[in-house]
Amino acid sequence: MTETAMSDENTIKVLFGTMTGNAEELANDLSEKLQEAGFSAPVEDMGTYEAAQLGGEKRVAIVVSTWGEGDPPDDAEDFCFDLYDGKAGDLSGVEFAVCALGDSSYDDFCGCGRKVEEALLQGGARKIIDRSELDVDFEDGYEEWAQKFLTALAAPAA
Ligand SMILES: Cc1cc2nc3c(=O)[nH]c(=O)nc-3n(C[C@H](O)[C@H](O)[C@H](O)COP(=O)(O)O)c2cc1C
Repeated sequence: MTETAMSDENTIKVLFGTMTGNAEELANDLSEKLQEAGFSAPVEDMGTYEAAQLGGEKRVAIVVSTWGEGDPPDDAEDFCFDLYDGKAGDLSGVEFAVCALGDSSYDDFCGCGRKVEEALLQGGARKIIDRSELDVDFEDGYEEWAQKFLTALAAPAA
């Protein structure tokens, strides 16, 4: 079956926003895990993805770091600011999970991931699992979050 013929039910879009590659690395790993579990899991950079596209997704996993003082990575600014501003429109058909990367030595720890989640909920999207907020040693926390996500996807819809 080609990717375009896959049903939405089987597709999880994996969106990442990164400055130095950590979020991209985790997004690619997550996509591999999802594909091993039988999903189609295309990875996209927030830098080339528009908030207005979100409403057309069924399920989205978002991996995003925080820069500046609670800001999005540079390439992810347009996507994030449009999302915060409600420009993604009605997201009531979208289910999502957020994996936020940061460094707890900064005041606004994982601020971008938190704001992305708030905006998704504001748009009417449904959270599949709780957001993870991962510190500089993110590997173990990421694996735990990814397993939780896979388990939730395997469970029958509530
Ligand atoms: C200049 C600078 C500013 C940062 N600002 C924040 C911040 O405000 N909040 C936070 O939680 N982490 C902050 N971080 C930490 C990054 O989010 C963290 O290193 C993350 O793993 C980077 O992931 P990336 O490679 O995907 O961009 C900052 C890091 C740097 C170097």
